[in-house]
Amino acid sequence: MTALDEIKIGGLGASRKRVEDNRFIRGKGNYTDDIVLPGMLHMEILRSPLAHARIVSIDTSRAWRIPGVHLVLTGEMMATRNLAWMPTLSYDTQAVLATDKVRFQGQEVACVIADDPYIAKDACEAIDVEYEPLPAIVNPEQALADGAPVIRDDKEGQDSNVIFNWEVGDAAGTERAFAQADKTSRLRLHYPRSHPSPIECCGSIADFNRATSKLTVYMTTQAPHIIRAAVALVAELPEHMIRIISPDIGGGFGNKVPVYPGYVCSILASILLECPVKWIEDKSGNLISTGFARDIYLDGELALRSDGKILGVRMHVDSDHGAFFSDAQPSKFKIGLLHSAFACYNIPAGHITARGTYTNKAPGGVAYRCSFRVTEAMFFQERMIQAAASDLGMDQAEFRRINLVRDDQFPFRTPFGFLTDSGQYAKCLDVGLKAVGYEDFRRRQAEAKARGRLLGLGISTMTEPLGAGNSREYDILGIKMFDSADLKVHMTGKAILRTGAKTQGQGHETTWAQIVAHELGIPAEDVVVEEGDTDTAPFGMGTYASRSTPVAGAAVAMVSRKIRAKARKLAAHLLEVSEEDVEWELGRFYVRSAPGRGVTIQECAMAAYSNMPDGMEPGLENTAYYDPPNLTWPFAVYIVTVEVDPETGVWDVLNMVAVDDCGVRINPMIVEGQIMGGLTEAYAMANMQFITFDAEGNCVGSNYMDYLLPTAWETPGYELHSEVVTPSPHHPIGAKGVGECAAVGGPAAFVNAVMDAIADTGVRNIDMPLLPDRVWEAITKRHDVSGAPPVRSDD
Ligand code: CDP
Repeated sequence: MTALDEIKIGGLGASRKRVEDNRFIRGKGNYTDDIVLPGMLHMEILRSPLAHARIVSIDTSRAWRIPGVHLVLTGEMMATRNLAWMPTLSYDTQAVLATDKVRFQGQEVACVIADDPYIAKDACEAIDVEYEPLPAIVNPEQALADGAPVIRDDKEGQDSNVIFNWEVGDAAGTERAFAQADKTSRLRLHYPRSHPSPIECCGSIADFNRATSKLTVYMTTQAPHIIRAAVALVAELPEHMIRIISPDIGGGFGNKVPVYPGYVCSILASILLECPVKWIEDKSGNLISTGFARDIYLDGELALRSDGKILGVRMHVDSDHGAFFSDAQPSKFKIGLLHSAFACYNIPAGHITARGTYTNKAPGGVAYRCSFRVTEAMFFQERMIQAAASDLGMDQAEFRRINLVRDDQFPFRTPFGFLTDSGQYAKCLDVGLKAVGYEDFRRRQAEAKARGRLLGLGISTMTEPLGAGNSREYDILGIKMFDSADLKVHMTGKAILRTGAKTQGQGHETTWAQIVAHELGIPAEDVVVEEGDTDTAPFGMGTYASRSTPVAGAAVAMVSRKIRAKARKLAAHLLEVSEEDVEWELGRFYVRSAPGRGVTIQECAMAAYSNMPDGMEPGLENTAYYDPPNLTWPFAVYIVTVEVDPETGVWDVLNMVAVDDCGVRINPMIVEGQIMGGLTEAYAMANMQFITFDAEGNCVGSNYMDYLLPTAWETPGYELHSEVVTPSPHHPIGAKGVGECAAVGGPAAFVNAVMDAIADTGVRNIDMPLLPDRVWEAITKRHDVSGAPPVRSDD
């Protein structure tokens, strides 16, 4: 017997088909809405039609009289149990059900629990609420204006709409860099509010059992253990009596990280009624009230030397958080990891100031397929890089090459204090430029221009921090960020693995088993992976910010190594040699001096239950908690070519090339799927997604007729490259995160391409989405086009 063939057993590098798809493509997934419990009632939420208004009165008497109604909850009732307000993940408070005022359109005002959802919905409409309208604030400029109404007048001492002022970097050093610059390049823009829009909306089924005092909640959460802790603290229930089960999830993208009022109300209703209560959000409810992303304004400047070297960067951002500051992000960083901007460039000095404001919009700031504002950081960075190259009259690719961090400079300290781990940035850029036919395209572009056609090429290069913690620097509400894996190898060598992460479509059931196969030689098909049940999975911080592979994935490797260490002792016992004389090859231990004498990992597993040496604890199982020494830093180059129609402003993608270096790929097919999905979301943001607010604070984009998701019809094709592999030096298997890279780096490539096509107009910026009328306005009127709310009447 010899070492196993790693690809054949579905180990590292195998494009193993996704095991979870067996049930998904047969319609056998088990989502929250599929779960039916005996005696279950249904909950619906009454939402505010106004963005800002004082509540004069709420009369629920008509609703109570409707047959089939069991309970009507209002903020006043919640307040008697100290549950009208709840803490957010960013040390703010958020109304569960409104008591004094409503602060955004769609805010939760009351709930009805009834025999079925239709009765509950009808009863919601029978609740009479009298509102006294107040002026609505829909952007930071209005929020900061003199005399603006204070949205959060519920908070003692809050006398303005400012949430925080935060800064990072070296103000004096940056000032000096700008004093020495030959040229300063400035860009102002808005990254519009967008919505992660998972196909499955949010929902929960709370099931409180009075006899056992146990509360079981099935819910659509990306972070079940954090929810368990939150329920224990907010509802003051004993944590061991709370079980959160996150079944199959139909997409999360950050939308399913926060704690929503619907979860809290269904839990309270179940406790009061002593029966299961199900709440399933509808699409409009999801689109107008749950975790928005982005909505942030940049005023950015680069200090440039005339030879193309960037000397310094200065950024001021104003972020619009809506009515409650409920971002889920490391508590040290008020504006998330926005300061990861420019991490792939060697820039000596930088300074960022950030200001957060309340507005009359739903809480925002969730990390939509993004590590806490990294998407905004990379978009600002790459738009500023393009503007700076144009201002210097330099070639876009050359300007990047001059400033990218060189391979021999790692680990590299960025201007804002991060330590990037590894990369081959220039090589990735070369691969991308070659694939897109850069020189040839520039020639064709010039020829086309002579005939009145507008071709453009956009580049986006970026590295981003994936895998929070380490626990020294990263915590959410004081809970340190790390992750975990628990592996039980049964006596026949089959195994069950549980982690603190929670897949929402990323394929953890497939890829985690591949890591076990790589470490232990147990075929991936012999390992079942379970996540999302707090009674069985080890504690973890959940899945968002592409942290699963860097943290939980590392824990899987580490727990497998613990199992291998014990199996080695068992092998020595079976082979009757000392442990030092035992060697390992995939799937098998053998005697160093007699390689033909060996035992398989499965034989070791059997011995762990039937023939262990004297004094050894029986069994073959273990748990690992992994606290990463650093974040992983994947690198990517995205290059897009487009043609813009000068008559209509419509633009078409001609080609898109993606070069992703995410270190070792566990499953190349799944990685490609992640990149294609991310590029499609990037395209949507650049091209069509438009959720905004009118002057009264009405949310425009509360359905899929207005908020567009790209279908196969309009989505362009992508050419993916995987030839550059720089393993992470500190991750146990050299893998870096990848899930969000394309959504993070992609938007700038599309926008840069359109701006390149219309460069002759002298226009510096069109805010996303680059709708045809905006592009046409820029071409014909030759001025920048802003997309900041309130929405214009012609949009
Ligand atoms: O945290 P999340 O699962 O969203 O993101 P991720 O850690 O980047 O992983 C997304 C998917 O890609 C998972 O199934 C990973 O196992 C897989 N992956 C991979 O096969 N190789 C990598 N180097 C990174 C991720």
